[in-house]
Amino acid sequence: MSVVDTIKEKAKTNIKRVVLPEGTEPRTLQAAQKVTEQGLAEVTLIGNRDAIEQAAKAAGADVSGVAIIDPAHAPDYARYSETFARMRASKGVTPEQARATLLDPLFFAAMMVYDEKADGFVSGAINTTGNTLRPGLQIIKTAPGVSTVSSCFIMEVPDTRYGDDGVLIFGDCAVNIDPTAQQLADIAIASARTAKVLCGMEPRVALLSFSTKGSAKHPNVDKVAEAVRLVKELAPELNVDGELQADAALVESVGQLKSPGSPVAGKANVLIFPDLQSGNIGCKLVQRLAGAEAIGPICQGFAKPINDLSRGCSVEDIVSLVALTAVQAQKK
Ligand code: ACO
Repeated sequence: MSVVDTIKEKAKTNIKRVVLPEGTEPRTLQAAQKVTEQGLAEVTLIGNRDAIEQAAKAAGADVSGVAIIDPAHAPDYARYSETFARMRASKGVTPEQARATLLDPLFFAAMMVYDEKADGFVSGAINTTGNTLRPGLQIIKTAPGVSTVSSCFIMEVPDTRYGDDGVLIFGDCAVNIDPTAQQLADIAIASARTAKVLCGMEPRVALLSFSTKGSAKHPNVDKVAEAVRLVKELAPELNVDGELQADAALVESVGQLKSPGSPVAGKANVLIFPDLQSGNIGCKLVQRLAGAEAIGPICQGFAKPINDLSRGCSVEDIVSLVALTAVQAQKK
């Protein structure tokens, strides 16, 4: 069974409530119908009811089984605005600004999750990553003990010699542009957790660089080596190694030559990139040149699950990300 099918089966075992704030977006409407029909989650669409029903008709989607909430007429709107104004008062947000912000479907959805009226939200079919993540960062915030929100992809490569039968986790490919050593350590620990929770993997985490164990000297290499030290201190139970070049992380003969005796080198299944340039490029290269299936970006580190779609997503991508969000919510 593929990783996505396994996640969908898990989602069905304990139905969670997922909000889709892009309520008039055609792929979102078709996905809402499919998620409901397949019993993957209880969906709520955010937006004006007439506009959603018209858009659904135009998209050929039957959303009669889906809840719709219009922030402007929602009984919780005033309370949510007051809560948001209190939360952001120190940032200079006035009650008036808070009321305007809560009319934004993404902020309303984040507040529903914060208020436990929903278990998670998914958007990004028409919004940028920043627009999707900001309500989460401002309202839902990080999980206890976590200071960095980050992301990872589940990569399924056709060559089953790599990772766990071709399944690997790549982090962070979508959120932190130039992480510090501490943030890199957080990303590594969170990605290992995602590997366990979503893929049932026993993580072997490689922190990647252009150097293996001091073969090159540069502050960028020192940052990765410091992150490895921090991971060992913060999560001593994890199998982690670095800094490693990508071939030392993935190819047994190279790994044992460059990092002899390592429990990770040559057999890594979680790859942590040193910054967003390398992570985003690496992920897209593997997807295109190796024909990998890339599932994500999957957000990690939030107190409640939020996930971001690519604007080029298909209906099926939305369905899968809703199921994945539901499984993350089951594990909270
Ligand atoms: N972890 C934890 N907290 C964070 C993080 C983080 N990674 N980033 C920001 N915050 C906090 C801020 O400190 C701030 O806290 P406060 O306001 O309570 O003091 C709060 O979250 C809100 O931050 P903002 O300033 O509104 O957001 P910011 O401008 O920092 O942007 C964002 C965050 C949008 C995630 C930014 O880092 C970003 O744009 N990243 C790159 C996204 C991107 O373009 N990815 C590539 C495309 S995706 C793809 O190709 C798959």
